[in-house]
Amino acid sequence: MNVFDLAPVLQRDQSAKSVLMDLLTVSGDKQQALFAKARDVRREHGSDAVKVRGVVEISNHCQKHCEYCALRPQNKKMARYRMTPDTVLDIAEHIVELGIKTVFLQAGQDPKSDDAVCEIIQRVKRQGIEVLLNLGEKSQETYRRYRDAGADSYILKFETSSREMYQRIVGSSLDKRLQCAQWIKDLGMKLGTGNIIGLPGQTIEVLAEDLLLALDLQPNFMSSSPFIPNEDTPLENLGFGDVDVTLNSIALSRIMFPTALIPAVSALEKIRPGGQLQGMNAGANVLTVNFTPKEMRDSYSIYSKDRFVVSLDHALRTIAAAGLEREGGVSVTQLN
Ligand code: 5AD
Repeated sequence: MNVFDLAPVLQRDQSAKSVLMDLLTVSGDKQQALFAKARDVRREHGSDAVKVRGVVEISNHCQKHCEYCALRPQNKKMARYRMTPDTVLDIAEHIVELGIKTVFLQAGQDPKSDDAVCEIIQRVKRQGIEVLLNLGEKSQETYRRYRDAGADSYILKFETSSREMYQRIVGSSLDKRLQCAQWIKDLGMKLGTGNIIGLPGQTIEVLAEDLLLALDLQPNFMSSSPFIPNEDTPLENLGFGDVDVTLNSIALSRIMFPTALIPAVSALEKIRPGGQLQGMNAGANVLTVNFTPKEMRDSYSIYSKDRFVVSLDHALRTIAAAGLEREGGVSVTQLN
């Protein structure tokens, strides 16, 4: 039997969890073989074209208390901002000019930006591109307004599948978050989800359960990000999440979700230079370029104050180094 045959997982066989636990911890040659299998699956399912997204972090106000994130309201050291629609539109126009087809609007969970977001979505959509949101938990009505304004997709990571861990670290209920994910799907937006690897109390068994929860959600986008300790948060003294386990989780996600968009997140690069290239080599097919103006970007420290900021240049070089092409076939040389 092919050791990377995930049929028992996809069929939710009794052995599913132990199969995933074994594969999440592979190293050496076996890890390389897992990555090669993930790349095969990506190619065979026509998912090799790398999607480049342009993210704008439109507000760093947040209602949530996630212990890993410096946007939490308890962090009084952070200067807060909320962009005007005109500012976001100027940035979005620049993103479109660079040939990027997805504008990604990200913020803390900030109800006061809901109205502005609707206006921004409508105006960005006039440029004929995709709008992706990552704005946290909202009412069903607010998700409907976003959808009606033209939003194509929404990322709401479950962060961890453990109800106990979620409650302890995020301070609210996982079921509420999963309800939101269901609303997003039911409204017809594409759903992105994912986990953080390296949270306190997390075991390999929990990470295997994360992948099984993703299997239930059948997301269009799936991400695994290593934990980054963030200054001025309760978890500031914890170590980095394990990059190799994260890469294995990316590879398993690719095999489980052959056509999904799977990012190689900037947190990989922050912990290990070349980490995003390793993510691509493990089966990822998305890179997100940051377009938040520097003065605001410095106050948006979800991945620590000196986070790795992905430029278009870095993204294109990573794509080329992985032997892949950007979606739409725009090569590095064409842009330079
Ligand atoms: N380390 C890793 N991922 C983080 N996120 C936020 N803070 C951290 C951190 N310190 C991720 C969460 C959230 C997304 C916007 O960023 O998964 O959903």
